[in-house]
Amino acid sequence: MTTEELIKEGLSAKENAYAPYSNFKVGAVLVTANGCIYRGCNIEISSFGLTICAERVAIFKAVSEGEKKFKSIFIASDAEKFTPPCGACRQVLWELAGDIDVYMINRFGEYQKSSMHELLPYGFDNSFLGSGIK
Ligand code: THU
Repeated sequence: MTTEELIKEGLSAKENAYAPYSNFKVGAVLVTANGCIYRGCNIEISSFGLTICAERVAIFKAVSEGEKKFKSIFIASDAEKFTPPCGACRQVLWELAGDIDVYMINRFGEYQKSSMHELLPYGFDNSFLGSGIK
């Protein structure tokens, strides 16, 4: 799929969001190394801490289907600003997808492109495990 098609897909994934508390709908489209896509949206729960972001829905769907290699993620919201992934999603994406391209899409379908390394410099990952405090 082209960048333009993936942007449309991100905007359409957003429409499934269940966000009655914040009214902030987010859509995510994760692209695998071989071009498959997994869509996600945010899902809010009245016990607010149980809410899950669109990006984590998308990557958990993909990983649970056996996907291991990823190329990019497209994140869309209704905001005028380009919505970046939250800190928790950055950590999860870094662990499971690595240094993928990140396209942040605004309500007009415009985008800003970044990368996971740029969004999470000096990220913690499993290379630190086993060399810590004994
Ligand atoms: N949200 C996402 O789905 N992704 C982000 O990158 C930022 C925040 C959701 C969580 C919550 O449902 C709503 O947006 C407001 O924080």
